[in-house]
Amino acid sequence: MALNLEEIKKYLYPEEFNSYLSLMKIFENNKYSKSNITLFYPGCGADVVNPLLFLDILLDWKNTRAITLIYADTSSIAPMFIGETVDKITGVKNVVKFISEDEAHISFTINNCRITLVYILADVLQKLPQILDKGFDIYFERAFEIFRADEAMFIRYVLEHVNKNGLLISDCGFCRQDMLKKYGFVDFGPKKLPSELGLYNTLKIYKKEKD
Ligand SMILES: C[S@@+](CC[C@H](N)C(=O)[O-])C[C@H]1O[C@@H](n2cnc3c(N)ncnc32)[C@H](O)[C@@H]1O
Repeated sequence: MALNLEEIKKYLYPEEFNSYLSLMKIFENNKYSKSNITLFYPGCGADVVNPLLFLDILLDWKNTRAITLIYADTSSIAPMFIGETVDKITGVKNVVKFISEDEAHISFTINNCRITLVYILADVLQKLPQILDKGFDIYFERAFEIFRADEAMFIRYVLEHVNKNGLLISDCGFCRQDMLKKYGFVDFGPKKLPSELGLYNTLKIYKKEKD
């Protein structure tokens, strides 16, 4: 995707930035390929940057035509930051924005890929946004484990709704190994990954091999 590295450096600690560069190398020849991708990021807070870093590293951009990013949080802080941050780290002009106090829709095009970011104000542990019911390709979480760790329904929903061949990216390993196995998740890339790009230092990326 070619994000603006100088701008990204401003959002990350040096060890996080180094982790990002190491991951880039690790996944140089191991990409996730799909033309139309939906990513779900619950508990996003004001963090716009991290999912984009992972997409930058993991996607086969030649084959990606459209990405829908569904960000959700109980706090309405994100819409205030989303537009400006996206402009800066992508370096893309002509971003189309609709931003209100508790909602944001942002669209921009990079390398012929249309990216739409939808921010939803929602308590995802009470009720998941309906838009997710038909499944999503990438689940992304960061510093969210403490809120959803005892929420068995939420965990099961995520494991069930990641589409076949989709990815689960978590800074805490997400859940028990037997659960992951039951739903067909296997390591994507090496078992041990550079871990600083997250709060819990146990970054894992899984791929779902069966429905
Ligand atoms: C520790 S912060 C992490 C924010 C962001 N992921 C990051 O890495 O900077 C946890 C976020 O989860 C959100 N959150 C907590 N419970 C939630 C829930 N039930 N539904 C949606 N968001 C929730 C909080 O509002 C907060 O923004």
